[in-house]
Amino acid sequence: MPLETPLGETPEAVREALAPLRNDFSVALFAAGNAFAVGAVIRVAHSFLAREVIVIGDGDWYAKASMGMQKYERVVRAPSAAAFKEIVAGRPVWAVEKDYARRAVTAVDRFPPGVVFLFGSERHGLPSELADAADEVLGIPIYGVNHSLPVTVAAGIVMHEWARRRYAPGALV
Ligand SMILES: C[S@@+](CC[C@H](N)C(=O)[O-])C[C@H]1O[C@@H](n2cnc3c(N)ncnc32)[C@H](O)[C@@H]1O
Repeated sequence: MPLETPLGETPEAVREALAPLRNDFSVALFAAGNAFAVGAVIRVAHSFLAREVIVIGDGDWYAKASMGMQKYERVVRAPSAAAFKEIVAGRPVWAVEKDYARRAVTAVDRFPPGVVFLFGSERHGLPSELADAADEVLGIPIYGVNHSLPVTVAAGIVMHEWARRRYAPGALV
């Protein structure tokens, strides 16, 4: 049965209520360059209760795409790739980029605690330096003639892959 959602409360009260339910992964978006994509990823990250969303580079997002969910999320700004590396120092960074993939997301047995999923920009993808520096690089198998998925869809698939392992039948919630 779904829980009562405290949406009538202040954003601070909602964030406080959600804090103990947060999941042990973060999402980072590199130079998304697409205000709709950033907003939509924030919206999806909220649905999966990511610990935080790290937006690398400048630029804003469309409120319509985030559907107000940024109020309940911790959105961290990293002005550059170097700043991102400082923010996530000591945490496992798993990049998600088909061209540099070392394995398919579907083949992962378990994700490391505190994993940061790093996605590339809608137009240019992830630079090779960031993929090379990542602890792991995942690809999402796709079967059509186009080269990639929209980053929001890719982020949703990866968050779902994380969640279905964490909340598999029998797993403690
Ligand atoms: C639209 S794609 C980037 C497309 C870019 N024009 C390119 O050719 O690399 C945006 C981001 O979504 C993620 N993505 C999309 N499809 C993916 C796939 N099949 N496997 C892994 N990541 C994918 C990656 O993080 C990628 O940087």
